[in-house]
Amino acid sequence: MYFELSEEHKLLRESAREFAKSLLEGVIERDEQAKFPFEQVQQMGELGFMGMMVSEAYGGAGMDTLAYAIAIEELSKVDASAGVIMSAHNSLVLYGLQEFGTEAQKEKYLKPLASGKKLGAFALSEPEAGSDATSQHSTAEDKGDHYLVNGIKNWITNGGNADIYLVIAQTHPEKQHRGINVLIIEKGMPGFTVGPKENKLGIRSSDTHSLSFNDVKVPKENRIGEDGFGFKFAMKTLDGGRIGIAAQALGIAAGAYQLALAYAKERKTFGKPISEHQAIQFKLADMEVEIEAARMLTYKAAWLKDQGKPFAKEAAMAKLLASEVAMKTTVEAVQIHGGYGYVKEYHVERMMRDAKITQIYEGTSEIQRLVIARDILK
Ligand code: CAA
Ligand code: FAD
Repeated sequence: MYFELSEEHKLLRESAREFAKSLLEGVIERDEQAKFPFEQVQQMGELGFMGMMVSEAYGGAGMDTLAYAIAIEELSKVDASAGVIMSAHNSLVLYGLQEFGTEAQKEKYLKPLASGKKLGAFALSEPEAGSDATSQHSTAEDKGDHYLVNGIKNWITNGGNADIYLVIAQTHPEKQHRGINVLIIEKGMPGFTVGPKENKLGIRSSDTHSLSFNDVKVPKENRIGEDGFGFKFAMKTLDGGRIGIAAQALGIAAGAYQLALAYAKERKTFGKPISEHQAIQFKLADMEVEIEAARMLTYKAAWLKDQGKPFAKEAAMAKLLASEVAMKTTVEAVQIHGGYGYVKEYHVERMMRDAKITQIYEGTSEIQRLVIARDILK
């Protein structure tokens, strides 16, 4: 067992931390106005954050999953919206293209995505298929040289600003989940429209849209993997994606804790800093313990993936714990700030709103428990 980060990982953490400082500027306005951080995402591309785990041969940074988790954690300490934009793009889009795409797909789609010139989105969820992801209503009818895609996708992160979408749809309903495909669909393909932006509780500067497909002709060469591979593709993709969301949740918790700790040392009541009241000390102690536990699980899941070992259960465990810790820590961070925590300038109210989504997307906490229970009982 070796618990020290390598020099390379420490350097990466420093550069992500340095970049994250620039996210602070305008973070409250971006949240209030639900404004996508275009400029910041472009800089993230230049720094290699938008293609972190893609090999250098395809224009990526060629780093490992641990480095990726560390970078998302650092960004999310300041701006969880930037964290999810990066997570969805890297782990839900680039991973699958690199792992299962053809050389032609990698040339055409992976390269511009990995350099950050283009943005990706992953479309699995539907109005009636969220947790129950196998019950896909969207269809990709096999027409010989192309698929005809029809249906609606819901809640798609990067939905309005993406250029390239990985869309899951049913081709052979009689085969149930084994008849599902995943197709690469480009913005602008006739019949593909993006719905209005959702007005959300948190991660407001990340854009979330429904997508609608009306007789969209998608060339056969845009299918990833064998016919019927789409659902397995989605599940394998989400295993890695859950490490990204665990890291996002960890970052939100750690960011709120840092603010609460600093505030507790400064704010005085009854003649002494509130950090000298035992009730506040115990909250801080719990935060420290729980954040460290979430970090260990998240890094372990990333490490397992990097070692080529099974990691689906550990990714679900990390996402479950880190998201619960993010919610609890941010609520307590607001409490430690008293009335000041309830207003925007102190950031913790935004972090509390941002934390909630980590218990919902990429599989709710209930679904993580289901995945973990199935693994331990199998
Ligand atoms: N890896 C590979 N294959 C897997 C798998 C995994 N981790 N998990 C399941 N499968 C396969 C199974 O082997 C099975 O295939 P076979 O029958 O061929 O063996 C098939 O998938 C169906 O599996 P189940 O029978 O277990 O299906 P189920 O319906 O009982 O449960 C589920 C599946 C785990 C609940 C799944 O539907 C699920 O993960 N739901 C949550 C969906 C989700 O996380 N959505 C996130 C959307 S993206 C997002 O949210 C992005 C964002 O916010 C930024
Ligand atoms: P439901 O599945 O209807 O669940 C409702 C409640 O029932 C939940 O509490 C759930 O845990 C519980 N429940 C359901 N089934 C069970 C069960 N078997 N046992 C116990 N409890 C259960 N999807 C994408 O494909 N791509 C994206 O980029 C994306 N981004 C998102 C961004 C945001 C901001 C949001 C809000 C969602 C996003 N999603 C995305 C969708 C997200 O993954 C789903 O919302 C999530 O998986 C839950 O599905 P649902 O909303 O349909 O809830």
